[in-house]
Amino acid sequence: MRILVTAGPTREALDPVRFISNRSSGKMGYAIAAQARRLGHDVELISGPVALPPPRGIRVVNIVTADDMLAAVKKMVRRCDVLIMAAAVADWRPKKPATRKLKKASGPPRITWEATPDILKAIAPLKKKSQVFCGFAAETHDLAREAKRKLREKNLDVIAANDVAQNDRGFESDNNALTVFFADGRTLNIPLSSKANCARKLVRALADFWAQKKK
Ligand code: PMT
Repeated sequence: MRILVTAGPTREALDPVRFISNRSSGKMGYAIAAQARRLGHDVELISGPVALPPPRGIRVVNIVTADDMLAAVKKMVRRCDVLIMAAAVADWRPKKPATRKLKKASGPPRITWEATPDILKAIAPLKKKSQVFCGFAAETHDLAREAKRKLREKNLDVIAANDVAQNDRGFESDNNALTVFFADGRTLNIPLSSKANCARKLVRALADFWAQKKK
């Protein structure tokens, strides 16, 4: 199976020295890429800025902004069987980043925000019948309801929901717990364990789902 994984955060510039981003360390996405490779799949990884070594045997494309990630996903998605979007894409960016460093003495800057592109929504029309698209949902409340809404609205086959309100899982942690919702109504619970273990179970479930879809 050919798997395309996205991992890590994106960054959006406020000025030449500052940016807005989020707490994603890339650990979940890198664990998925590494475990998928160990399970014998062909893996490509699109990564935001992280402090992790590139996983062995995997082609990594490094990006910074949501626009960069969208361009890379659009280019690479046609050659995968399964897309796993574990990246935490910044949802907002300054409409006009300052071209010179904002000066502290000028006081807090007034920033007009705009939405970044929704990558999964943008690529939904490109999805081939044989492909499986899996998103992640990072939620602090209403986990199941919000994840199922994203599954529908982003036209996904699968979504892996994680509770990011707790410190022992989700962002930055070495561990995670996932509730995986499938478009056919099935649910898979992956209890709190290492991100490597969560990744292995998720990849196996996606391989089964892809094999069934192909029949
Ligand atoms: O990197 P770690 O520190 O290991 O943390 C792992 C994680 C918490 C980042 C990861 O498990 C996770 O939940 N990733 C998705 C985070 C997220 O952005 O969730 P969301 O609910 O905001 O987005 C839903 C889905 O839409 C995601 O698949 C996301 O990649 C995608 N998205 C989001 C925004 C956007 N503009 N375009 C998108 O395609």
